[in-house]
Amino acid sequence: MQLHISPSLRHVTVFPSGKGVREFIKVKVGGRRMSYRMLFYSLLLLTFLLRFVFVLTAVDTIDGESKYCSTIGCVGKRLGPRIWGRRLESLVPEDMYRILEEKGKEEVGRTDIPQTLEEFTAVMRTKKPDLKTFAIELRSMVNLMEQRTRSAKIQEYLYRHVASSSIPKQLHCLALLLANEHTNNANARLQLPPAELVPNLVDNSLFYHFVIASDNVLAASVVATSLVRNSISPERVVLHMITDRKTYATMHAWFSLHSLAPAVVEVKALHHFDWFTKGKVPVLEAMEKDEDVRAKFRGGSSEIVKSSVNNTHEKPHVVASKLQTLSPKYNSVMNHIRINLPEMFPSLNKVVFLDDDIVIQTDLTPLWEIDLGGKVNGAVETCRGDDKFVMSKRFKSYLNFSHPLIKENFDPNECAWAYGMNIFDLEAWRKTNISQTYNYWLQQNLKSDLSLWQLGTLPPGLIAFHGHVQIIDPFWHMLGLGYQENTSLADAESAGVIHFNGRAKPWLDIAFPSLRPLWAKYVDFSDKFIKKCHIRAS
Ligand SMILES: *[C@@H]1O[C@H](CO)[C@@H](O)[C@H](O)[C@H]1NC(C)=O
Ligand SMILES: *[C@@H]1O[C@H](CO)[C@@H](O)[C@H](O)[C@H]1NC(C)=O
Ligand SMILES: *[C@@H]1O[C@H](CO)[C@@H](O)[C@H](O)[C@H]1NC(C)=O
Ligand SMILES: *[C@@H]1O[C@H](CO)[C@@H](O)[C@H](O)[C@H]1NC(C)=O
Repeated sequence: MQLHISPSLRHVTVFPSGKGVREFIKVKVGGRRMSYRMLFYSLLLLTFLLRFVFVLTAVDTIDGESKYCSTIGCVGKRLGPRIWGRRLESLVPEDMYRILEEKGKEEVGRTDIPQTLEEFTAVMRTKKPDLKTFAIELRSMVNLMEQRTRSAKIQEYLYRHVASSSIPKQLHCLALLLANEHTNNANARLQLPPAELVPNLVDNSLFYHFVIASDNVLAASVVATSLVRNSISPERVVLHMITDRKTYATMHAWFSLHSLAPAVVEVKALHHFDWFTKGKVPVLEAMEKDEDVRAKFRGGSSEIVKSSVNNTHEKPHVVASKLQTLSPKYNSVMNHIRINLPEMFPSLNKVVFLDDDIVIQTDLTPLWEIDLGGKVNGAVETCRGDDKFVMSKRFKSYLNFSHPLIKENFDPNECAWAYGMNIFDLEAWRKTNISQTYNYWLQQNLKSDLSLWQLGTLPPGLIAFHGHVQIIDPFWHMLGLGYQENTSLADAESAGVIHFNGRAKPWLDIAFPSLRPLWAKYVDFSDKFIKKCHIRAS
């Protein structure tokens, strides 16, 4: 006989091994009042005391039947099998239930706890224990199994986290291949844009300026391709690609070899910007400090794992999110750098800033006609909408309102807005202290050991742009495609811009299969680089 607890802690399965038993028991624990453990004990008791054959799959109905149960005894009684219509509940003594419900210290520090049901059965057979010992042994085994299941669950969250933050080998391959091409192929080093088009880069009157900051060449290529392909007048599109030092050759090679003409594309690494080389960049300094703070946060990852394994009140996903806080992914320069757009593009008046996990499905030039009413940042809000999961974000979702600094300055119920597709009026921005405010709060958060907020660049953005945001129509930016499969495909298809924010990025294996094609249609799978790196449509 085998016993299996699902990692969600909501299913228990008992597989029989004896002959003549065709069924196994699989029970879903649905009710809030009843823990899987209560059910589990009851099943086990019945299994042992009444012999397995009597416990049939009739327990399907347990959800309904056990609605009013809050003790193991009650569940056991309700669950008790009927033989020829007669309940056999009296076979489980009350004493037994009492012991099982106790917290119990007997198992602490023991090393001879049976590890499996098999072992447990064997021990019981040889020792022939009294009722009390039987119950304690059972409880010890279940506690041990539960602890293991919890650890496994935490592991699972971590794997998912790693799967979403590590670079898949196909993307590595693509980056290396293109960097190599940059070295060996003069065509991959062509000036971008060609000299005669350079004046367009600073021309506010005829051109629409878009900025993407990314270190992921495949992602950036999809944003750029979808932008240009859906543009009604691509000859008026100017795309400013910002990347980091290590990705520059790769990015440059890609856009040299895959022209988006008549659109104009510029590729620059951060160290190519005058502003960057001129002196201190507070964001970068804050990020260096931030790395130190994060590494020590709550004693580091090993402490978090250690202290959570025994703490059964802590939900595995909470543990996982603590661990995520340590991840540098949420804190990359490419994410923070948008706060310096006015300094990086001193000649531009207005830009649209695009994240690299979006896809553009319509002509974006109407964004320049939206009246921002003197505000700096045109963004969609994220607290209203049909999608209750994605569209329920207020300031309190991001900032720690238990902290006096936050509580005194902000309203927890203020609607949040989204990064990903923002219209930035750089002229208006230059008249404000937004960048200084941003840096000030980054410092405050570091000083208070990340207790104002823990993840990402949106929280300081919410603070810095407070009062400077103009809400735009949700058509321009649909969120949540990397969070959940539930996103309606029809809604996604009809949005102007879709955003794969969340873990399931379209370039990862864990992407949602129904949504991925919206992204993949902008990847040319017959391209020699894409093919060589085995990047496939599905
Ligand atoms: C967790 O429990 C085990 C076994 O009871 C014990 O050996 C270990 O020290 C505990 N760990 C922590 C961090 O309390
Ligand atoms: C920006 O900050 C300076 C110094 O802190 C202050 O004098 C100025 O009024 C602020 N400007 C705006 C627009 O808030
Ligand atoms: C929120 O702030 C309070 C007060 O400073 C602090 O005790 C708490 O740990 C913070 N919460 C988080 C999740 O950092
Ligand atoms: C998806 O939709 C189903 C049915 O509407 C709902 O039960 C489920 O909770 C949703 N999942 C998420 C992640 O929102």
